Formats: sequence, structure tokens, C-alpha cells
Amino acid sequence: MTIIAPSVLSANFADLKKDIEDMNNSQTGWIHYDVMDGHFVPNISFGPSIMKTISEYTDLPIDVHIMVSNPLEVVDYFAGLKVYMLTFHYEACDDNNLIPVIEKIRRNGFKVGVSIKPKTQPWEIKSILDKVDMVLVMSVEPGFGGQKFMPEALDKLDWLHEYRTRHQLNYLLEIDGGINGETGKLAVEHHCDVLVAGSYVFKYPEGIAAGVKSLL
Ligand code: DX5
Ligand code: ZN
Repeated sequence: MTIIAPSVLSANFADLKKDIEDMNNSQTGWIHYDVMDGHFVPNISFGPSIMKTISEYTDLPIDVHIMVSNPLEVVDYFAGLKVYMLTFHYEACDDNNLIPVIEKIRRNGFKVGVSIKPKTQPWEIKSILDKVDMVLVMSVEPGFGGQKFMPEALDKLDWLHEYRTRHQLNYLLEIDGGINGETGKLAVEHHCDVLVAGSYVFKYPEGIAAGVKSLL
């Protein structure tokens, strides 16, 4: 069963409570929460305090995607919060902090996700694939909602699926960026387990619940 994770980056922040309630009353699987630092990506979004507020109005698992240059420090900002999965970017790490970031996320009791940008190939993260619960394949350059889906992401899903099968690993595959009815279907055909969708769901003419349903 595919998990649909609406990205609150595209929510209506003047009436966020309503959007959260609409997600609660829909087939939403997880809530995707994008943290941007204005350095790793050319945009700034929101941090732990708004996440905490959201978590008080929902029981849905919160899927935090940190697009920041200093994941080792930023993980600490979420300590004690109701995070389900915390996904960091492989490109923000070097040989010295890659494993420490993974360990720190785990020590906080969160599931560990690693994300790769469009220019990173999945085999570059081979050494950590037995240490993560999810791989997030970016199908746009991270930073903004509403961009066009990059089909190269589908080959990455195939590679990651083949690898997990061959090595008997259990990480989930998530895709993020430009997901709509059509691209979501393609991603699922390429073994994707979790579809993140921002503008498509929040701007769906018949509302959030109908938008989520149309992806299933
Ligand atoms: C982009 C974010 C996405 C964004 C997706 O950097 O990681 O989660 O909200 O937005 P859409 O679905 O509109 O492409
Ligand atoms: Zn995201």
C-alpha cells in the first residue's frame, strides 16, 4: 500500500489548522515537513517550533526532511519532538559526519532517512544502505514546491529497489518533487513506497482529501 505524504510547504499558513484537520480526515499516511536553511538550498522554510505545533493537532507520523548544511547540529533541534522519520541529505555530509548523523538520528528515537539530490547517483550511498530506514529520491532540485518532475528519478528507484531485494534490505523508497496523478503512478510502478506531494494536494480543486485519494 502506497503511503501518501502531503508536503506542508504548500499548505495555507493563514489557516494551517484547517489543512491539518483535512489531512487527518483523509487517507494521508504521513505529513511531510520540509526544513530549509537558506544555505544548503536557496530558500528558508520553517523549523522545530512550527513542527511541534503541527504535531499537537495530528496523530499522523511526521516525516521531517532537513535540507540544511549542518545536519549534525540540526538533528538536535528536533530532540524530544514527535518526529517519525528524519531524513537528511547525503550531500550535506562528509566522511567524518555521515555515520555520526545517522547515529544521532537513531539516538533520538527517530527512523533514519537519507536523501539524494538529482545529481547524486544511488550507488554513491551504497555504504549506508544497510543503516537507513528510507531513501528519499529527489525528483526536483530541492528548495521549492511546484517544480517539474525529473524522470531520471525513476531509474534511481529501480536501482535502489533491485539493490534492496538483492541484499535483503528493508528501506522504504520515497520520492519528492513534481508528484501528481501521472508522475505518482509512474513512481509506484518503479517500486516507490512513499509519495510526497505538495502543490498537487494542497491546490487540488476538490480539496486535500480528494487530492490524496487521487494518488492512491
Ligand atoms: C522541495 C521539497 C518538497 C516540496 C514538493 O525541496 O522537498 O517536499 O514541498 O513540492 P511539490 O510536490 O509541489 O513539487
Ligand atoms: Zn521534501
